[in-house]
Amino acid sequence: MNQKSILLAILAPALFLTACTPKTPQLGKASVDKVIAAMTLEEKALLLVGTGMAGFSGETTVVGETKQLVPGAAGTTYAIPRLGIPAAVLADGPAGLRITPVREGDEQTYYCTAFPVATTLASTWNTELVENVGKAMGNEVLEYGADVLLAPALNIHRNPLCGRNFEYYSEDPVVSGKMAAAMTKGIQSNGVGVSLKHFAANNQETNRMGNDSRVTPRALREIYLKGFEIAVKESAPWTIMSSYNRINGTYAPENYDLQTTILRDEWGYKGTVMTDWFGGKDAPAMVRAGNDLLMPGTPKQYESIVEAVKNGTLSEAELNRNVRNILNMILATPRFKGHAFSNTPDLKAHAAVTRQSAAEGMVLLENSNNALPLSASIKNVAVYGVSSYDFISGGTGSGDVNEAYTVSLVEGLKNAGYQLDPQLQKQYEEYIASENEKNKPDPGNPFAAFMPRARPEELVPAPAALALQVKEADVALITIGRTSGEFADRAIEGDFNLTANEKEMIETVSKAFQAAGKKAIVILNIGGVIETASWKNFPDAILIAWQAGQEGGNTVADLLSGKVNPSGKLPVTFPVQYMDAASSANFPWDPAVVKSAGGNLMGKPDDGEEPVRNVDYTIYEEDIFVGYRYFDTFGKDVSYPFGYGLSYTSFEYANPVIEETHGEFVVNVDISNTGGIPGKEIVQLYVAAPRNASLPKPSKELKAFAKTKELKAGETQTLSMKVAKADLASFDNDESAWVADSGRYTILLATSSRETKQTIELTLSNPIITKTNKVLQLQAPVSVLKP
Ligand code: BGC
Repeated sequence: MNQKSILLAILAPALFLTACTPKTPQLGKASVDKVIAAMTLEEKALLLVGTGMAGFSGETTVVGETKQLVPGAAGTTYAIPRLGIPAAVLADGPAGLRITPVREGDEQTYYCTAFPVATTLASTWNTELVENVGKAMGNEVLEYGADVLLAPALNIHRNPLCGRNFEYYSEDPVVSGKMAAAMTKGIQSNGVGVSLKHFAANNQETNRMGNDSRVTPRALREIYLKGFEIAVKESAPWTIMSSYNRINGTYAPENYDLQTTILRDEWGYKGTVMTDWFGGKDAPAMVRAGNDLLMPGTPKQYESIVEAVKNGTLSEAELNRNVRNILNMILATPRFKGHAFSNTPDLKAHAAVTRQSAAEGMVLLENSNNALPLSASIKNVAVYGVSSYDFISGGTGSGDVNEAYTVSLVEGLKNAGYQLDPQLQKQYEEYIASENEKNKPDPGNPFAAFMPRARPEELVPAPAALALQVKEADVALITIGRTSGEFADRAIEGDFNLTANEKEMIETVSKAFQAAGKKAIVILNIGGVIETASWKNFPDAILIAWQAGQEGGNTVADLLSGKVNPSGKLPVTFPVQYMDAASSANFPWDPAVVKSAGGNLMGKPDDGEEPVRNVDYTIYEEDIFVGYRYFDTFGKDVSYPFGYGLSYTSFEYANPVIEETHGEFVVNVDISNTGGIPGKEIVQLYVAAPRNASLPKPSKELKAFAKTKELKAGETQTLSMKVAKADLASFDNDESAWVADSGRYTILLATSSRETKQTIELTLSNPIITKTNKVLQLQAPVSVLKP
């Protein structure tokens, strides 16, 4: 039966019933239980699966797209008019609302704001700011008629090459969880919902629909689930999206232990769980696991659910539980409440939010001899690098936004009053146009539209031209750009590592300008970590602009000119080389291995084939030692540590004080601006466990952070941070319990994971042991890294 005939089959008796029984319970008027009691089995099954996606059977991975209600949204739930149940519209994604900007036969446009990507927002370490971005983003969801935004995404940056890291916040679960909670609060303050995604351990794109993440319960609990736990408890997200991958053998949406035992029983989650688009294999298993909604939904799923109830393998009670969760979500939607959306959100105001929030997320990595801010006498700039002219606002795939414009770096510089080298500009514009003509997406590849386009290789300026440019300009700006997105992971060569031309461009331009007593500044327009160690000494300054949203060029100009003092810090470590990352070997980095497994598999795996390591399954051998937990515990050199970032001013930390209350410790510290200009400082609170801890521990773990307001020169602010006693615990696999040993812990008040400014001790007098369910166990033991 196709979907239309299913609909007719249920609607005909339903219409008849409506005519005969005027008292049919209506959602919102009658209780949810009454509405459920009035639903037929078929109606329940329809509600549990979405309305489908034309042209897609569910066998391959896909980005959501519907033409119904809000064109270009990712999908809709089933409407059952006879019971007063409207559809809910679900739309991507983390950097802003993704809908189709132009509609046939309609003069109006429906552009949305491309906000800074999640990694940029995490770099602000400013939860209030992130909540404000969420407010603006959620307003577009509301005013364009959608109900749930499929965001925030908070998977851990386990490996530098994951193609979707830009959509995620950090390598640290506390940063990820706090950011996701702030974003959720902001979005949901509009009366629309979010979907925390992708739950859980979805850390690679290669074979994302089949890959089995083999992880210890400890690493799951401490690293991969922790951020979700924080966000669930602090911000009550309406929905959660389960991930595509398997965890220790079971698909995330079919995993009862994950979707019910941990999420609902242990954490107390009350909302709805939906699949990722076409995620999971066995529909009744997903229903049983507590994965309420199957998106975008297929007729096959509908049929197998009905069949499973009829043959008794799925109980009506399980069905009703999930239906109830979905109905409760629908009850809260603007569509149910009849919100008359305007289709005219204030895009100008939201562009201003974008510009200002990105400014706090950019990270100054190097600034020799105060190369930045540019001195007031600098007027003429020579601008190099393709991305200076074709700035990248965000990554690709479902996380892309259809924005009206992106301010390039050169436009931003012009807006700020700088003069560009017209010859250089012309050369780049012509080159980019001709290269883009050659690099058109392959029309035969259905994923091409959602994947990054090949970017033109960089140009190394010829000596004569360069000499002229040096003569005419006061400073050189060089942009290195990177983009990535779902369906594929990044490569080491030419992506993590710079290309030969990129390195040569940086070196040649820097040396030529420096020889003339002028500065060269590198701007990194990137979505994730790249190699920096081999070239970072060439330029005078390096600024990570990240993917900063549609106002990117204006924001960079704000920082270069000194209008804004940089205050961002890295939410992720920059290793010296790719192979230094703890997970480097246990990731599909090797193109030959991926090829041997049949390429980057886009569909669901056929059972029975010999599984290929890192493609069909990935062993998380680094265990809890992700990011700085690894680099710092094992004493590895890094190029830039976690939490690092410079300012145009300087700060001092003084008078750390700790107070113990019943369940927590409160730490206060005074931060003073000791430099000459206003600025903000981020303070990171790490905890080092007692030496005789019962479990192997990282040398330190982030437990809290805070950011000052803008402090004037000489001004001091007392920052206050809390550490719950229970948060000192690590997870004991054998006992299935959180264990916080009694003893002396050291609190490090630090400006990065490698630079502690003040320490203070705390004593936990009694151990705290919190038992959990023994779930998510490995199918076979794996040997994991230990210090
Ligand atoms: C992505 C999700 C997204 C969904 C709907 C999937 O391909 O993994 O993040 O929300 O598509 O577009």
